[in-house]
Amino acid sequence: MSEGINRQVLLARRPVGEIRDQDFELREAPRPEVGGGQFLVRNLWLSFDPTQRGWMSDLPGYMPPVPIGGVMRALAVGQVVESDHPEFKAGDYVSGGLGWQDWILTDGMTEVGPLQRVPDGIDPKAMLSVLGITGLTAYFGMIDVGQVAGGDTVVVSGAAGATGSVAGQIAAIKGASRVIGIAGGREKCGWLTDVAGFDVAIDYRTENVLTRLADEAPNGIDVVFENVGGDILEASLANLAMRARIALCGAISTYNQVEPSPGPRNYLQLVIKRARLEGFLVLDYAPRFGEAVDALVGWVNEGRVHYAEDIQEGLENAPATLRRLFSGQNLGKQLLKIADAPIA
Ligand SMILES: NC(=O)c1ccc[n+]([C@@H]2O[C@H](COP(=O)([O-])OP(=O)(O)OC[C@H]3O[C@@H](n4cnc5c(N)ncnc54)[C@H](OP(=O)(O)O)[C@@H]3O)[C@@H](O)[C@H]2O)c1
Repeated sequence: MSEGINRQVLLARRPVGEIRDQDFELREAPRPEVGGGQFLVRNLWLSFDPTQRGWMSDLPGYMPPVPIGGVMRALAVGQVVESDHPEFKAGDYVSGGLGWQDWILTDGMTEVGPLQRVPDGIDPKAMLSVLGITGLTAYFGMIDVGQVAGGDTVVVSGAAGATGSVAGQIAAIKGASRVIGIAGGREKCGWLTDVAGFDVAIDYRTENVLTRLADEAPNGIDVVFENVGGDILEASLANLAMRARIALCGAISTYNQVEPSPGPRNYLQLVIKRARLEGFLVLDYAPRFGEAVDALVGWVNEGRVHYAEDIQEGLENAPATLRRLFSGQNLGKQLLKIADAPIA
């Protein structure tokens, strides 16, 4: 690839159901020139997040949809290569909404907020995984929304993913007596118990989640960290303890549905168990991100939080990489490497 070319992946049309290659278009534009108080960033690592499926749709959301013909919105980490900006210098790593493109000329503000300088001593791509949105979501979802406490029995769905894997480990750190993960496939379940320290892993592809939860949580579930929705959420609702807390983080099993899902059939369990189901958005915790990053860095360094990164390569593979989240091919955080850092 010529360094004078800026490859950009644009949203060509709104997907119906599953994401397809034809929903995107690859365009080549000239690499932007620096000036006017801006700086030029070489994009290096792209983050893949289920919420991108929502950004592609013209439905009410927490952010406006990506316009047709616009660069596909994405969090990413890049390196500043040239700067006319007083606060960013060549060689700095930055993370934020850099999008599916090779180069970005910016004043530091993106459509998803200001770019953050990656602190020295931190692996830049960790800013997209354990120290990024998914790690922060796990932290606030489990602690503030789930209000996990000593002795709790905790269930995490989507447990081998970027958010779920960290959420379950935080529950254990906070004193949960039993952490049960639900994930797809033997490899992921083995990783959960052998590496991430979950007490139990249930393979929803081959096991009956409802009866397994009843066996593994005989006194009921105190905290549910819900990433999947649908039948998996119903199985947890059927096995709640009194005063259970359900942190509704997401419902990825519904994101490609053309017709909206009717919701859990057994929601009255919330009444019977005096339980609380609360949705949350990590962005609301932005003023406290520093607290979470400090805690996560500490736990990673102490070997109390393990995380996996699933790294694909090549900007042209961005659509296929996004699909991996929905087919469950990723173990841990889904990333795409699109270049080596230009400045050593
Ligand atoms: N509320 C917030 O602020 C916030 C922030 C970030 C993320 N989230 C939500 O957190 C959840 C996890 O996101 P993530 O970025 O960490 O992704 P992830 O868990 O790393 O990847 C997605 C995983 O979802 C599972 N999955 C996909 N389709 C499924 C289906 N039909 N049934 C069951 N499992 C399915 C797959 O694992 P298996 O192989 O196990 O199926 C896949 O690996 C998503 O719901 C996302 O929307 C919310």
